[in-house]
Amino acid sequence: MSFGSRLEAIAKWVPAGKSIVDVGTDHAYLPTLLVRQGKTNFAIAGDIAAGPCQAAQNTIDTFEMKEFITVRQGDGLKIVAPGEVDVIIIAGMGAGSMIEILENSLPTAEAAERIILQPMNGASSLRIWAVRHGWKIVAEDLVEDAGIIYEIIILERGSEKEYPEVFYEIGPRLLEAGNVLLARHIQRLIDHYEKLLSSMRKSEQAKVSEKYRLFSKLKKDLEAIAHGDKG
Ligand SMILES: C[S@@+](CC[C@H](N)C(=O)[O-])C[C@H]1O[C@@H](n2cnc3c(N)ncnc32)[C@H](O)[C@@H]1O
Repeated sequence: MSFGSRLEAIAKWVPAGKSIVDVGTDHAYLPTLLVRQGKTNFAIAGDIAAGPCQAAQNTIDTFEMKEFITVRQGDGLKIVAPGEVDVIIIAGMGAGSMIEILENSLPTAEAAERIILQPMNGASSLRIWAVRHGWKIVAEDLVEDAGIIYEIIILERGSEKEYPEVFYEIGPRLLEAGNVLLARHIQRLIDHYEKLLSSMRKSEQAKVSEKYRLFSKLKKDLEAIAHGDKG
């Protein structure tokens, strides 16, 4: 069974021999994949809702993995004690929910060796939050799955220098590493801001707002990078 290129790409960033928690696991496909790859023999599959927990248990039973994966129902990282796992994974949620989960359990987040995040939106706010709270962006990745490009952000405790706003939009490690999907990723960000700006242009008030000025500058900076100026 294939778990899809998005989950495969996330699994790639889990070092071998580590205990993990997958927050918002839904079907527990990621923990199952990691056990099958021989990367972990201690995984917690966490989810806030009963349905996904049941789905996770079904997957674990189907793949005969109950020795290695435990389902825990609860909110975010509250189901894990500080230091209980080496690697925290949160995938398939918005950045706002991810920040809330990490903020609500800071001692557990800070005790982890690595945090792997795959936000569905708002990646820049997640990068800014992480850097301001004592994490270093050790790596970033882009993966295409069913025509959609997903961002993966890997954090470890440490300090990071401050970057211009546009670097947080794109991802500083993505810019340095020159991923094959980078040009499309940047174009998608430009299109996103153009869409916001064009809708704001319909309102006289929005057109003169601070937000409009900020979005225009971001779009201009993204275009400069897309045209080869790395700032
Ligand atoms: C779209 S699914 C993502 C599933 C999987 N992580 C993936 O990337 O394919 C989001 C899951 O997160 C769960 N969820 C949302 N908020 C949560 C929270 N605060 N704590 C734990 N799970 C949460 C939902 O119940 C849902 O099963």
